[in-house]
Amino acid sequence: MHVMGQIGAATEVLGKMAKGETPFDANVAQASAAEIARLSGEIDALFTAEETDPKSEALPKIWVSFSDFSAKSKSLQEAATEAANGVSSPDDLPSALQGIGAACQSCHKVYRKP
Ligand code: HEC
Repeated sequence: MHVMGQIGAATEVLGKMAKGETPFDANVAQASAAEIARLSGEIDALFTAEETDPKSEALPKIWVSFSDFSAKSKSLQEAATEAANGVSSPDDLPSALQGIGAACQSCHKVYRKP
């Protein structure tokens, strides 16, 4: 799923900065978080039609409990929005990433094939 790939790429930018692999840049960090927030707003719409592609890692459970799935995409959006507004120093990164990462995990754990 293409949008997940983009979300993954934006998250990686933050992850590398948190690890010190790339220098901290508040503008880049905020832009990446804002990108995650924007893309997470598209998740629900992309999953309204049930996935039939055998290559897909989306579990059918998504369409049994779509309101919960949707709540999880919303919590990612909230965590990313908070990060986009709140990350101004390298010290802010770990907690911002933790919030975003927890939101990724809470959805993947239930709705994505291991
Ligand atoms: C609301 C649920 C949900 C949230 C939140 C979520 N994901 Fe996903 N993600 C999925 C599902 C479902 C798939 C499997 C999609 C498929 O294969 O069709 C997936 C697949 C992926 C993939 C594999 C893409 C591929 O090309 O196979 C990556 C990478 C990924 N997610 C990254 C992330 C990151 C990083 C975050 C958090 C910033 C995140 N996701 C948050 C549901 C979610």
